[in-house]
Amino acid sequence: MAPSLLAADFARLADEMRAVRAEADWVHVDVMDYHFVPNLTIGLPVVESLRRHTDLPLDCHLMIDDPRQWAVGYAEVGAANVSFHAEACRDPVALAKDVRAAGSRAGLAIDRDTPVEPYLEILPHFETLLIMTIKAGFGGQDFLPEMLAKVRTARNHAASGHLELRIEVDGGIDEDTIADALDAGADTFVAGTAVYGVADPAEAVRRLRRAARRESG
Ligand code: DX5
Ligand code: ZN
Repeated sequence: MAPSLLAADFARLADEMRAVRAEADWVHVDVMDYHFVPNLTIGLPVVESLRRHTDLPLDCHLMIDDPRQWAVGYAEVGAANVSFHAEACRDPVALAKDVRAAGSRAGLAIDRDTPVEPYLEILPHFETLLIMTIKAGFGGQDFLPEMLAKVRTARNHAASGHLELRIEVDGGIDEDTIADALDAGADTFVAGTAVYGVADPAEAVRRLRRAARRESG
């Protein structure tokens, strides 16, 4: 479970991370640059500060035009996973190597309109495949169930090649959608609005876990 700070109170990020500390596995940090997506969020200095305020692993999702220039920096300040977009990178394998050499897991992110098939062969170079289940850029959008075909394709590919791959879904994950994503083969779930849009973020994460297993309550 990776609560996304995009839906948190940006003036209280340390408190917001603390609120999910006992329940979350990762904290998802959406880095947006006004160019790759029309939204602007936070960058390297903020992530560096976040690192000092939590012991939860930071999962940085770079929605930026030039990951070549920036991705390694996020690894160097202590991100546990750095995902950059396939659409923004000419040589994802080379960048994955640099990110891993700097001490982070490497993630390949695939936006809504990008098929996964062209990237299956390079997945052994990544620990994480992030499949957008919305169009990247904004929180609070509706989950796109047709994106789960990509999750299934990637999971089957990983299973047939005995590949250890984390498959992360991002966008519109809530109590109604998480179980289908799990069934399709996802194992890592980003949730912004469903966690920080309610009064008790920790309880929201617990509820998402139960919903993923189709347990009631
Ligand atoms: C959007 C971001 C997501 C965002 C998801 O481009 O990548 O991580 O936080 O927000 P929800 O969970 O509200 O769809
Ligand atoms: Zn994200």
